[in-house]
Amino acid sequence: MERVLVTGGAGFIGSNFVKLLLGRKRKVHVTVLDKLTYAGNLKNLEEVINRRDFTFIKGDICNKKILDEILPRTDIIYNFAAETHVDRSILEAGSFVRTDIVGTYTLLQKTLEHKIDRFVQVSTDEVYGSIARGKFRETDPIEPNSPYSASKSGADLLVRAFHVTYGLPVLITRSSNNYGPFQHPEKFIPLFITNALEGNPMPLYGDGRNVRDWIHVDDNCRAIELVGRRGKVGEVYNIGAGEEKENIYIARKIIDLVGASEDLLTLVTDRPGHDRRYALDSKKINRLGWKKRVGFDKGLETTVRWYRRNESWWRPIKKGAFKKYYSAMYGKRISQASKRKGKR
Ligand code: NAD
Ligand code: DAU
Repeated sequence: MERVLVTGGAGFIGSNFVKLLLGRKRKVHVTVLDKLTYAGNLKNLEEVINRRDFTFIKGDICNKKILDEILPRTDIIYNFAAETHVDRSILEAGSFVRTDIVGTYTLLQKTLEHKIDRFVQVSTDEVYGSIARGKFRETDPIEPNSPYSASKSGADLLVRAFHVTYGLPVLITRSSNNYGPFQHPEKFIPLFITNALEGNPMPLYGDGRNVRDWIHVDDNCRAIELVGRRGKVGEVYNIGAGEEKENIYIARKIIDLVGASEDLLTLVTDRPGHDRRYALDSKKINRLGWKKRVGFDKGLETTVRWYRRNESWWRPIKKGAFKKYYSAMYGKRISQASKRKGKR
């Protein structure tokens, strides 16, 4: 039986990934190591937490002692643990450097000592920077623009270096923007869905015409699992669904699906260093045997339905500390936008 360690498994993608692994016929034992930051949530793992083939450990990937305890019982590591929100990295970058770079380094060093079969680094398409036309390929240079993407690039490059220098059996996935159930309401799609459900302004950055290449979280999880099982050691795999959409298109779709008022759409001051467009060439993962199953319009519809039916999941998150973050991030921008609207 394969023993799998999923770091960051109480977060959005990690928890969906754990449920995918435990839902398969293949016998595995899954251990989640998660620090339970503001983004980690044990409710995301409710349906598996009491299973005998599942263990949850609260802890930090920077903690060598915990890693020495877990790694002797591990065959494969999927490193999802990270600080992940670009906007927060603009407010404060230290925790991103600590977890995304130092944490990944600590995990790599310990993986080397404990001779693990495979190390899968969950990287991101943001390491490439922005692309005006065409699509990023795995061989393109890394040109990150935010403190988040620079930290993830540091991790991505360390993983590569541990392979080249020490022969560590690593694989790297770089996926595009995920959406689906259990995504923290700080991110664009869940923020806009929940604000629309609450009747609150939907703060669209800049002209609303930035483009992201959206992938349903189930499709990404299947691809990451495939890379871990069948990918070629030392290689990078882009994972994108080819669903390039402008933010304003998505915002309008959400308004339609929720049945909210167009007036909630509020153009606010842009994010500094905002990447204009992401698009991925995913032929390499296609050749490995993966293709998307969820089209964007259908996926968005089911995601809206999920947030509608799971208010008990997101309402508590939007209270407390989130309110403070929200008012620091949006308060002034939204009131400036309302004044501009009033003058017209
Ligand atoms: P998330 O913010 O929802 O979850 C991150 C998880 O990591 C949380 O459970 C948190 O508690 C945990 N964590 C943070 N610091 C930790 C530490 N020091 N030690 C242990 N656990 C820690 O993030 P997500 O959206 O699920 O992203 C998961 C991974 O996928 C990240 O590495 C991210 O960079 C990458 N990624 C995300 C997307 C996306 O669209 N969400 C796209 C591409 C790549
Ligand atoms: O591309 C992969 C990356 O996607 C991941 O590596 C990151 O972890 C993940 O957070 C995501 O980064 P983005 O910055 O692309 O996602 P975010 O949801 O923050 O924003 C998506 C787009 O929506 C982006 O163009 C900014 C815009 N946006 C976002 C928010 C939160 C708004 O217009 N208003 C908002 O309030």
